Amino acid sequence: MDPSSGIGSDEAVPDYERVDVSVLIIGAGAAGARAAIELVDRGVDDVLVLGKRGHGDAHTTWARGGINGALGTHDPEDDWAIHAADTLKEGHFINDPMQVETVTKGMPDRLRELDEGGMAFSRTDDGEIDQRYFGAQSFRRTAFAGDHTGESLLDTLVEQAQDREVPYRENVMITKLLSDGDRVYGAAGFDMDSGEFVLFNAGNVVLAAGGYAAVYNRHTSRDDENNGDGPALAYDAGATLMDMEFVQFHPTGMAVDEDDPDWSPWSGRLVTEAVRGEGGRLYNADGERFMERYSPDQMELDARDVVARAIAAEIAAGRGTEHGGVYLDISHRNEAFIKERLPRMYERFADLGVNMAEEPVEVAPTAHYGMGGVRVDAYGETDVDGLFAIGETMAGVHGANRLGGNSLAETVVYGVIAGERIADRIDGPGTIPDAILGSVFEPHLTDLAAVADQGGTHEVETLLAELRDLMWTHAGILRDDSSLREGLDRLADLRERAADVRVGSRTGRSFEFAVDLGFSLVVAEAILRGAIERTESRGAHYRTDYPETDDDWCRNVAFAPADLGGMKPHTVPVADPSAAVQSALDAGYELDYHQLE
Ligand code: FUM
Repeated sequence: MDPSSGIGSDEAVPDYERVDVSVLIIGAGAAGARAAIELVDRGVDDVLVLGKRGHGDAHTTWARGGINGALGTHDPEDDWAIHAADTLKEGHFINDPMQVETVTKGMPDRLRELDEGGMAFSRTDDGEIDQRYFGAQSFRRTAFAGDHTGESLLDTLVEQAQDREVPYRENVMITKLLSDGDRVYGAAGFDMDSGEFVLFNAGNVVLAAGGYAAVYNRHTSRDDENNGDGPALAYDAGATLMDMEFVQFHPTGMAVDEDDPDWSPWSGRLVTEAVRGEGGRLYNADGERFMERYSPDQMELDARDVVARAIAAEIAAGRGTEHGGVYLDISHRNEAFIKERLPRMYERFADLGVNMAEEPVEVAPTAHYGMGGVRVDAYGETDVDGLFAIGETMAGVHGANRLGGNSLAETVVYGVIAGERIADRIDGPGTIPDAILGSVFEPHLTDLAAVADQGGTHEVETLLAELRDLMWTHAGILRDDSSLREGLDRLADLRERAADVRVGSRTGRSFEFAVDLGFSLVVAEAILRGAIERTESRGAHYRTDYPETDDDWCRNVAFAPADLGGMKPHTVPVADPSAAVQSALDAGYELDYHQLE
């Protein structure tokens, strides 16, 4: 279903529930929860947080290895400016430098605050918050809770939100934002349990609805999250998309026997970077520690794009394992150490009959994170007044390649900033103009109602699978012009078939997936067109026909609103870093991998 559809229907408007609220937060992961907490602490309690799943179940829980902040637990010379310099360098200098500064400056306090709030950080013998190495970071600055950092973070935030009695509604899917292109007035959606439609009247809307990596057929998230909801909803409402061509392929997703029912559900799921941060080594099927050839200084802890391409090259050269991956081996560490530092990984593989303390595991690159998303200002506000996008939904912090541990950092910092900004200027729920109800909401609801129980030629899930396959094939780790264009053609064909799908009732999965398909078609087009436009290689965007980075391309590719099938890219200049960050860049800090050995 096209989320921009709906104008011009003349069917009767279906029944709906109406909810009036000052701030609607779409997404109940770390970014949404932290924004809600900030709002309530600043006296705005007319807030509602919506989750697509049950309370406490959000993609944040799948974030594993850590959260960055220059605390300097082990390396006192670390500071926020070096953290910012590392972030810009690995983002290949198309990050928004002020956003980077905001996140890196804010993080030490955010970590201390989480600690005081009871987050179960792993600790040093002296009781300090422990910090581990993570890829391409000059110092140990990734704070962690074993390898369940996201879970512990969300537990802490949910508890804080519950203490403050933050209103929360679960199992609600938003299908459209109500906007005139300049201002947001609320959202439309449905209750996934009852199938009832809901109108949310809200003068401020915070989109904290995740990213878009699940439009690839190997991805770390669950299939029903990160389908592009956040970026597609914002784009439909009049916001600008940016940097969509930068998709992070995590080097180590599980490579499994797809025919074995015990293993196959785990295909592509994250094997945390913390395994390498704690000393894990990569070997090809010939037993060669191949990172010595690709990155002799930073080895397995070079940036994710470098390690992912190295693994892909080994596999392509025929040096892959039985299940199409390479080996990741941490068996030189003792079992007690692995159980303490990597408990979830140890347990997961043990459940599948593999002891990480005795044998390597098979891993291969997998789509993990969309660096792009919605273009926002310094406060997380989009081009549409009152509409904020934070967490993975926003673009800007990570540039062309994200540092592991910076995503959780961004969620809590921007949760605070957006909450603060809204609280400073809020004046009640606002009122949806009748014109928006009549021209946007009601036609949308009529069309949405018609999708349920609709007969059609194609299965929604088949089309979603085809879309994921298309993106993996045509806009994957390596790209070139002709393959990207072929991908666009295939996408146009798929879009046509998406108008003729079979869908069940509003409480069934196929209805939810039909909405997902609409979102995914939007982000897929932006990824493909952005990747065609950027005729260079930079970070996670690697063009085999333009293998070099081109200084003239130190710009962001953006998309102003347009109809599906007709998105047109334009470019936006990147600002300079502040003097403090520039001097950290000039100092040339770098990870010294061999300290780990
Ligand atoms: O590998 C990981 O634990 C992922 C962390 C991240 O993407 O920040």
